[in-house]
Amino acid sequence: MAKVLVLNGPNLNLLGTREPEIYGSTTLKDIEDMMARRAEAAGIGIDFYQSNHEGRLVDKIQEANHNYDYIIFNAAAFTHYSIALRDAIAAIDVPLIEVHISNIHKREEFRHQSVLAPVAMGQICGLGIESYMAALEAIIYKLQK
Ligand code: DQA
Repeated sequence: MAKVLVLNGPNLNLLGTREPEIYGSTTLKDIEDMMARRAEAAGIGIDFYQSNHEGRLVDKIQEANHNYDYIIFNAAAFTHYSIALRDAIAAIDVPLIEVHISNIHKREEFRHQSVLAPVAMGQICGLGIESYMAALEAIIYKLQK
């Protein structure tokens, strides 16, 4: 069975109450439940992990190597400056889709750059929580091809 790992970075545990005008009112648990239902219907395994700590995310990415077929990652603020996460992604063989709820290119200039994008398979942003669902659909499509 193919397996997908969904990683979320700092402050995404606060989804639902955090700046709802930008991130909406859906909680991370709601997003994970939605993804789990879709994965189950498609016959793929899915695991979830959220951390506010860069090193823990690095550990998870390293551990994912050879254990998962795809990673979906919202690195939150780390997206914009974490060379450690970029290097971890570059060090493994698992293709990774970078996702963001908001359109980072429409926001403050410091959010326009993603240091992860050059080592990601692709980036999906600005679709709201459907950014996660779109990433999962792309993976399901690729697995079924
Ligand atoms: C985010 C965008 C980042 O700039 C921000 O730091 C986040 C969330 C998004 O999903 O839109 O925490 O990754």
